[in-house]
Amino acid sequence: MPHDPDPPPAKKFKPGSVFFRLEKNKPGMLLPRKGNVTTPIDVQRKQLPIYQAKPRLLNELRRLHNAIVIGETGSGKTTQIPQYLFEAGIGRQGLIAITQPRRVAAISLAGRVAEEKRTQLGKLVGYTVRFEDVTSPETKLKFMTDGMLLREAIGDPLLLRYTVVILDEAHERTVHTDVLFGVVKAAQRRRRELNKIPLKVIVMSATMDVDLFSEYFNKSPVLYLEGRQHPIQIYYTKQPQSDYLQAALVSVFQIHQEAPQSHDILVFMTGQEEIEALARTCRDIAKHLPDSCGPMVVIPLYASLPPAQQLRVFQPAPKGCRKVILATNIAETSVTISGIKFVIDTGMVKAKRFNPDSGLEVLAVQRVSKAQAWQRAGRAGREDAGVCYRLYTEQEFDNLIPMTVPEIQRCNLAGVMLQLMALGIPDVMNFDFMSKPSPETVRSAVEHLELLGALERKDGQVLLTALGKKMASFPLEPRYAKTILVSPDFCCSEEILSIVSLLSVDTVLYNPPARREEVLAARKKFTSSEGDHMTLLNIYRAFKKVGGNKEWCRENFVNSRNMGLVKEVQAQLREICLKLNLKLESCGVDTGNIRHCLAHGMFISAAELQPDGSYLALDSHQAVAIHPSSVLFQAKPAYVVFNELLHTSRCYMRDLCLVDADWLLDAAPEYFGRKLHITRS
Ligand code: CDP
Ligand code: MG
Repeated sequence: MPHDPDPPPAKKFKPGSVFFRLEKNKPGMLLPRKGNVTTPIDVQRKQLPIYQAKPRLLNELRRLHNAIVIGETGSGKTTQIPQYLFEAGIGRQGLIAITQPRRVAAISLAGRVAEEKRTQLGKLVGYTVRFEDVTSPETKLKFMTDGMLLREAIGDPLLLRYTVVILDEAHERTVHTDVLFGVVKAAQRRRRELNKIPLKVIVMSATMDVDLFSEYFNKSPVLYLEGRQHPIQIYYTKQPQSDYLQAALVSVFQIHQEAPQSHDILVFMTGQEEIEALARTCRDIAKHLPDSCGPMVVIPLYASLPPAQQLRVFQPAPKGCRKVILATNIAETSVTISGIKFVIDTGMVKAKRFNPDSGLEVLAVQRVSKAQAWQRAGRAGREDAGVCYRLYTEQEFDNLIPMTVPEIQRCNLAGVMLQLMALGIPDVMNFDFMSKPSPETVRSAVEHLELLGALERKDGQVLLTALGKKMASFPLEPRYAKTILVSPDFCCSEEILSIVSLLSVDTVLYNPPARREEVLAARKKFTSSEGDHMTLLNIYRAFKKVGGNKEWCRENFVNSRNMGLVKEVQAQLREICLKLNLKLESCGVDTGNIRHCLAHGMFISAAELQPDGSYLALDSHQAVAIHPSSVLFQAKPAYVVFNELLHTSRCYMRDLCLVDADWLLDAAPEYFGRKLHITRS
């Protein structure tokens, strides 16, 4: 039975807030629907909801030093506000930065805005993401990941190049955005004190709960853009679902059989693997449906999908064909897809979880928050009344946490701590965080960095060591930076740079599930019994040998674009090494050195085989298993180091390297002596 939707999270309009009421449902105001892609881009700009508010919005933004802007996803905040400011001459003395939590969003938004401004990307409008800088001295509107702006702050804490910083998608509360809040607030204050050009800070969010933002930024006014949101009918399941994938599948086909063909479906899921699997099943089933059902295209959308494929979600389906998009939470707010009438919400999301006692950070499938569930439902009501099927009961909904816990309170803080220390903020506990991380999390991060040799204690103070300073120069997790920095001792810095670069891009392996046998056969010749790192290295060496040949990539199921990126990443890491006077050399065929070096840098993520065939993570004493995708899945070596933990049905280690117990002991004798029972062989 249909339920009336609960009201979305409290819409509180604070006194002093500015509220732009936009006209709703005015005929002809809707964005072009399917098939109509010929509307000129400047007309499209004027059709956006935000356009009506432009004069008053500019009035406010010109005047204010801090502002919070809230508006429904798709109303035009991200693409228009930077252009409005620029066109009005606001902040002309410097750059306008727009930060994004996601790399793909930064790239595609910059592309869109450059198109709207009819300029080449990289000129007036550019972007900077990790390992990729598409800007020039002409750039005035700079889209960037929040992590990149944070790195820039290390060299320039006052952010003097910028006159406006727009912190976008603030509701996502990524750890980098949270740290940036503190950094820009401090920069703004310092610039005022030093009589420098003022810094305007605009925080943009798709959700209503912004009291915290407003409070934090000196009680800054909130500008509400009331978007056009149509009514959404919410349905819950009667019973809790034990298998949300099965439930999603059933729902897709129920809608497909009953609803008009022009109504598209958006399904929220948790990650690449299950999305690809469900896509395959849907396509199979669709093939065998009676003709009365009409055709369906199934389109996956997740962050690591190559950009060209990501763009497919924006293209209209062929006439008379239903579009079914299977997406991760990337479709909640950072991208807008037209034509969606039905949303199916599994209620699940893959996110980081951190246990400060064990020091372990895992990626785990978990329930969404109420705020996320409302965002997901909202995707159905952009152009017309919509329907959202929640694959959980109303009671389960009631039990969801109201807001997503900020990432800073649920991730390993070692990397951020290192950056804060490099920023000259020694007392992290007293840093002006909007939401403070717990003392245990901070302590755990300090311990982690001490173990890596990045920090030391002197007279009760925690200080960055020379090694720590060098580590902070790399845009990498501390353990990878450390691995690179120790690699000259093992005469294998070139190989380590290759491996770290391979691990820094989205996967270079292309695994179409329908061609599993072929993939396995092609991969065999590269497979190393020493683990996934060495296997990747073999593939990379072969790739370089054939000069990055595209045909070779296709035959070997290698993603040539990502491989190209690996080369770029490597070039940039090499540059940092040269600046640090690090000796760059290759160990040739002696792969033992490479593994020895990996053990030395990655010892915190080590696991030991148990007599019963299971593994124990040495740091946390947690039971872990080898992920079936690893080349070591069958081999079960006594000791491994791993890159990450993924929690699904069990806790899996991904990307493993075989190591000797002795190497681990050598890397951190005291630590392993204190904590562990491993003995020298
Ligand atoms: O930031 P907000 O969610 O308010 O909207 P936006 O990202 O500025 O997007 C406004 C509109 O621009 C979308 O509804 C799309 O029609 C269009 N857009 C696009 O066509 N391609 C992009 N890469 C981004 C936006
Ligand atoms: Mg946006």
